[in-house]
Amino acid sequence: MASVELAGIACCVPERILTNSDLEKLVETSDEWIIKRTGISTRHVITKETTVELGYKAACMAIEQAGIDKNEIGLIVLSTVTGEYLTPSIASLIQKELDIDCPCMDVSAGCTGYIYGLVTGASLMDTLNLNAVLVIASEALSYYTDWTDRATCVLFGDGAGAVVLKKSAQSCMHYPILGGIPDREDVLYIKKELRATPFRCISQNPMQYLRMKGSEVFAFATNAVEETLRKLLKMCKDKPYTKIIPHQANEKIIDYVRRKMNLKKSQFFLNISQYANTSSATIPIALCDAYNKGWLKKGDRVALVGFGAGLTYGGVVIDWTI
Ligand code: ACO
Repeated sequence: MASVELAGIACCVPERILTNSDLEKLVETSDEWIIKRTGISTRHVITKETTVELGYKAACMAIEQAGIDKNEIGLIVLSTVTGEYLTPSIASLIQKELDIDCPCMDVSAGCTGYIYGLVTGASLMDTLNLNAVLVIASEALSYYTDWTDRATCVLFGDGAGAVVLKKSAQSCMHYPILGGIPDREDVLYIKKELRATPFRCISQNPMQYLRMKGSEVFAFATNAVEETLRKLLKMCKDKPYTKIIPHQANEKIIDYVRRKMNLKKSQFFLNISQYANTSSATIPIALCDAYNKGWLKKGDRVALVGFGAGLTYGGVVIDWTI
């Protein structure tokens, strides 16, 4: 893994908060059911904001915190599954707002996208001999949520997080794991609305909303998180990680893995109660929140672990240096 340090971290969520009682007015559900089955109380949902705006705001704050000139950034990697544009990339649109010159690319790996983005950013930093890389995740799941489907609409929220990676003598990022298995049962997807080719006209596609087979995803997720955490533990056995920031999809998934691995509740950082599942943005939002609340301290060794559509999964160990 390239020698990188994590120099700046920031996040940004839309102002509008949607509570469980707000959802009680949309679908047949209850605050009690949602909290008991998922751990979620509120989520932030876009009104006028876009993934570009949220990502841009998070990026600006991360650059400021890193104390670098924006022109030092040699690459922007952005993870999203909900961007407003197919092309150009959301990374390029954020680049336009930042007004800098550098290569830009989007990464799509479901909710594991941020781990894929971090690993891609750090690896390309080495390959291209760059001094600084911006890795952002920005998501607006609410565009693709079926607000009449109680099984999914209670789960998601919108938001963005960004990290500045800087070249350093000692690396803070170790043991990357990126994985994927075929989703043979179509347990999790958002299908694009296709329009037309010269030979075929497809005007409406009713499947453009997020569709999920909850219990199948639950089974995959618990397995993927446990296996990844166990692999990471083996890889860093000389200096094991003591803290874990998981993808925040459902508190029950984390509880299940925690009990199975005999880990302490205090080892996990969770903010799903406040933000719900913001897909690939949950990990950088949680990193930012954990840092701002003083849960992550200089010298901590933390494991990041994610899973998502694909089906993808991944993890990485970070030595916290800020
Ligand atoms: N409010 C009230 N009742 C509900 C709701 C709701 N919002 N949603 C479902 N129910 C009902 C169901 O209709 C069902 O009723 P029935 O018994 O009369 O048929 C009952 O509650 C139980 O439904 P289940 O689907 O079995 O509930 P379960 O305990 O499995 O919880 C959940 C569902 C929360 C979706 C769970 O399966 C889960 O968390 N799965 C993983 C989801 C996940 O991680 N998604 C994120 C990955 S994708 C990504 O990150 C972008």
